[in-house]
Amino acid sequence: DPDGRINGIKSALRVIPNFPKPGIMFQDITTLLLDPKAFKDTIDLFVEHYKHESISVIAGIEARGFIFGPSIALAIGAKFVPLRKPKKLPGEVISEKYILEYGSDCLEMHVGAVKSGDRALVVDDLIATGGTICAAINLLERAGAEVVGCASVIEVPDLKGRERLKSHGKELYVLVE
Ligand code: PRP
Repeated sequence: DPDGRINGIKSALRVIPNFPKPGIMFQDITTLLLDPKAFKDTIDLFVEHYKHESISVIAGIEARGFIFGPSIALAIGAKFVPLRKPKKLPGEVISEKYILEYGSDCLEMHVGAVKSGDRALVVDDLIATGGTICAAINLLERAGAEVVGCASVIEVPDLKGRERLKSHGKELYVLVE
């Protein structure tokens, strides 16, 4: 961390124990958003990492991928595509179910939002098991896009999301463990 930017980002995050359930240590990025330098450094680091990758699509995962994704998209001149929880998008969608620790969830994307030949970057605030990001990758690839990488502010390394992405052949870039 030569210029201390990662340290600044780390200090701007906070952990709330026992939210939303007992035993869960919630990684809260809203305090990062209150610190304009740390927020800007977060976006800049992603942009610096990906600006020479000819990315044409930033795919943001609901909900907190919507906070970081659009600024990256504007900075690199890519389109922004929201990947939403079920029944939120008004147009025709393709859906991808994925398994959670308890139960399952689903991500949806508008048909026509990406096309064959698009080069996509998936953006979220946090990767834990990697189930959510893998569902995002599957959606984008089913629509014909090439997924160039996955970017997350925070990684929970114990939960092996990185290994799971590697088995998909995907690179993961995170700022803070
Ligand atoms: C969190 C986080 C990621 C996902 C990571 O979202 O923002 O999207 O979990 O978990 P995984 O790597 O194990 O799949 P959450 O489920 O809290 O949904 P929300 O953004 O709608 O609050």
